[in-house]
Order: sequence, then structure tokens, then C-alpha cells
Amino acid sequence: MKSLQRIRCAIIGLGRIGSALEFDRFREKPASHAGAIMSHPDCDIVAGCDVDSEKRRAFRKAWNCNALYDDCARMLDECEIDILHIATPPDTHRAILECALGHTIPVIVCEKPLAATLTDAEEMAHMAEKSHSRIIINHERRYALNYAHVKKVIASQQYGRLVSIAAKVYMGYRSKAADALLDDGTHMIDLLRFLANEELLVHSVMGDAASTREPLCALMKAGAVPMLLETGPGRDHIVFEVDLSFERGRIVAGNGIYEEYESAESPYYEHMKSLRRKDISFVKTEYFKRMFDDAVALFKDEKTAPDSTLKDGLAAMRVIDCIIAMAGQK
Ligand SMILES: NC(=O)c1ccc[n+]([C@@H]2O[C@H](COP(=O)([O-])OP(=O)(O)OC[C@H]3O[C@@H](n4cnc5c(N)ncnc54)[C@H](O)[C@@H]3O)[C@@H](O)[C@H]2O)c1
Repeated sequence: MKSLQRIRCAIIGLGRIGSALEFDRFREKPASHAGAIMSHPDCDIVAGCDVDSEKRRAFRKAWNCNALYDDCARMLDECEIDILHIATPPDTHRAILECALGHTIPVIVCEKPLAATLTDAEEMAHMAEKSHSRIIINHERRYALNYAHVKKVIASQQYGRLVSIAAKVYMGYRSKAADALLDDGTHMIDLLRFLANEELLVHSVMGDAASTREPLCALMKAGAVPMLLETGPGRDHIVFEVDLSFERGRIVAGNGIYEEYESAESPYYEHMKSLRRKDISFVKTEYFKRMFDDAVALFKDEKTAPDSTLKDGLAAMRVIDCIIAMAGQK
């Protein structure tokens, strides 16, 4: 257990998830790495790095941080960092992680998806195995209270056996499935693995991963539970949703939605059962707070492994790569 010194955090990538999403009026807070650090009583932002001078300027103004760099190697050479946040685009994660692992950083939080390609993701896993840093991948859904509750319901068998899951990830009118899978799709794949507590096997895929018109459906299985994932273009709105069907109940959980039903005597049909909604809701999910609490607990040595590991990030990449390959577009 480390002494009660302030925990020194630094962020590479001062864009949306690094900082700016904290100023989205509607999002639950904290909603960014900077916001999570600054709302933790034990932590400070000691430095930030971005190749874009405008982002550095906005970050200085927002968080009163003056140790700003345009080169992550120089920041890592000059600053003592306890928790490093990598919040840059996916195609930079491999090189930045490699640089970070060359320094002695106890905890690294890396944004999803782990990398832009499966090859990079595999290399990152290989590098990480040889290092002493402990790495969290920010697949934040597994930290959220609503999904943690769903996992408990599954384990308790309160509604009997989980029979199947239907999942939806829509990211806008012209968002190709290949892009959606690497964006919110990686959260969904990770969530499905987390809920099922099993690896996902991709059975078949229908659709074109590169189309800006056609949706894509992937039929998968986790243990005995079949799952249908639908993603791709065609809608002008965003949806992230899982619909779990149990022997005696149903749960629909997602962005801005939580519905839990149990089976009961039907008010519509004699001698039959229908689903009756229960009064359960989650005003706050604490998704980002709980992810960062995990990073702090790792730094304080209260845990040896995070709840969202690099191996989980790699597993999601493998499933995404498989879906895209089976759709015939890479
Ligand atoms: N967990 C989540 O819910 C969530 C939400 C949004 C984004 N993300 C992920 O976060 C990452 C960043 O996404 P974003 O939307 O914040 O992007 P963004 O473009 O808003 O921010 C990325 C920043 O990184 C900077 N950058 C790029 N290369 C760099 C380098 N080599 N060194 C230093 N800075 C560099 C860019 O200038 C930019 O300011 C992506 O991996 C994305 O998938 C996660």
C-alpha cells in the first residue's frame, strides 16, 4: 500500500475523450480523462501532451495545466507520472504504448479500441507481457452500475436461464459497419463478453462492412447463449443497446435506457404470461468514475489486476477482425 502522496496523472491526447467531452452539457460526469482525474480527491493532472497547439491551449485554459508537450517521449522523460492516460486516435496507441513502457509508469489507461489493427493489438499484448506497468483498456461499460447489475441478475438466475441476447450499435446515417465496430462496437463486444463471461464465437455474418448504405448482422455465440449484433449505417441517430431474453424475464439496457421485466399472469390473454415492467432505473452509472477508481486502486496496490485488461481489449479486437473478415471487407 503506497503512502498518501498526491497521485500524479498525465494525459496524451487532449481532444474529446481526453478533455472536451467534460463540457458536453448532457453527458454524465465525469465524461473525460481530465474530468475523472480532477474529480478524484487524491489526484492531480501534472502534464498533458498533444500534437495540436490549439488543443494544448484549450487544455491549459480548461484545467489550469501548464506542463504541456507536443511530444510524448519528451513528456515521459521530463515528468514523474503515476497514471498515464493514452487518449489519442487508435492508430497511435501502439507507438505511444511502446514509448510509455520504456519509462517506469505504474499504471496506464489506454483508450479503446486497443489499436487500429489486430496486428498492432497483438504486438501491444506482447510488449505489455514483458513490462511491469499495469494497463487498463477504457471499455467503460463493464464499470457502469447498470451493466454490473445486469451481470448480477444473470449470475443469480433470478429470471432463470439467459436464453439469448440481441445487441444494436448504430452510429449515424452513413457510418460503415467496419468503423462502427472499432468505435462503439468494441464497447459492445467487450460488454457481451463481460455479461456472458465467455469468449464470443462468430457463427456467421450478413452484410457489407464497408457499405455506407447496408447494415451488418453478426450471429455469435458465447457458451450456450446465441447473440445477434446489428450495426452499420441507415439511421440518423445513435443507439447502443442490449436486449437480454431470460426464461422468465427480459432486460433492455443501453445509452439512456434501462427496462427490466418479469413474467407474470397476462393482463391481455387468459391463461398466459406476459412481461411486466419493474420499477428499476439508473440515474447515474458512474462509468468513468469507476474506471478511474480502478486505475487509482491499481496504483495504490489494492489490486493486482484491473477489471478491464489489455487481454480483454485484444479479445474484442479478435472478434471485430473476425466479423469484418467474414463480411468479406477489410
Ligand atoms: N471510451 C469512450 O467512450 C470513448 C469516447 C470517445 C473516444 N474514445 C477513444 O479515444 C481515442 C481518442 O478519440 P477522441 O474522440 O478523443 O479523438 P480526438 O481527435 O478528439 O482527440 C485525439 C487527440 O489526440 C491528438 N493526437 C494525435 N496523435 C497524437 C500523438 N502522437 N501524440 C499526442 N497527441 C496526439 C490529436 O491532436 C487530438 O487532439 C480513440 O481511441 C477513441 O476511440 C473513447
